[in-house]
Amino acid sequence: MPLLHVKNMTHYFGGLRAVHNYNLGIEPGQIMGLIGPNGAGKTTIFNLITGIYSPTEGNILLDGNNIIGLQPYQIAAMGLGRTFQNLQLWRHMTVLEHVKMARYSKITYGLIGAFFGTPKRHREEAEIEERAYSLLELVGVQHLAGQIVTNLPYGALRRVEMARALATEPKVLFLDEPTAGMNPEELIQMMQIIRGVHKELGLAIFLIEHRMKFVMELCHYVQTLVFGKVIAEGTPDEIQNNPKVIEAYLGKETVT
Ligand SMILES: Nc1ncnc2c1ncn2[C@@H]1O[C@H](COP(=O)(O)OP(=O)(O)OP(=O)(O)O)[C@@H](O)[C@H]1O
Ligand SMILES: [Mg+2]
Repeated sequence: MPLLHVKNMTHYFGGLRAVHNYNLGIEPGQIMGLIGPNGAGKTTIFNLITGIYSPTEGNILLDGNNIIGLQPYQIAAMGLGRTFQNLQLWRHMTVLEHVKMARYSKITYGLIGAFFGTPKRHREEAEIEERAYSLLELVGVQHLAGQIVTNLPYGALRRVEMARALATEPKVLFLDEPTAGMNPEELIQMMQIIRGVHKELGLAIFLIEHRMKFVMELCHYVQTLVFGKVIAEGTPDEIQNNPKVIEAYLGKETVT
């Protein structure tokens, strides 16, 4: 059974069928791409799997466990990390604090330890800080650790968000348009970062992305979504040459 398994998932927003009979299987370590025109339902699929919405129909299994009806924080704790299409960061916190905050969900020292400052608490605090720094290093922003996020450029913010998502040690990392708003140089850096994260942590990645070059170079397998339905799926080569995909999507996009 796949690590993440979605079966026959359908979702309606009122009368609008945003996702129709969607199926997905992600294996450990696999990089899965999700492409499709604006409004196709890509982010909705992320929101359904991560527990922001509950699907109208269907099953979602993570490691064989049904996750429908669980809260987003519970799903995150079970091994699903994500970033957002529109960055969601806390304006007045530093880069390091963002990553440490996410890491606190793993803490075990308890209330007494927190109050009295037991050795276990000190040890765990030190470990949290060390781990946070190593994740910031992995995404290349360790030199910004003490900066308030409001002051940082867009490319750096996307990396901070990724480090935060990694802090809970996900088995699958969801990235919703990680290159949105980036210039070509930042885009190449982001591709290297994702490769590095994948290689170093060995996790599975589920990637929504519009830039075709990025998708084709990174993904092992790609699904194309149009009006909430997968119209084609396969290896990047198969997708790139699929007439349905070219007609519905690639023909209208700059294939760079
Ligand atoms: N909370 C919501 N309530 C009502 N309709 C919604 C909601 N969220 C999304 N939709 C609608 O569902 C459809 C799919 O939207 P979604 O954001 O999932 O598309 P997308 O593929 O991520 O698009 P983009 O590439 O622009 O990010 C759209 O028609 C959108 O207007
Ligand atoms: Mg979207």
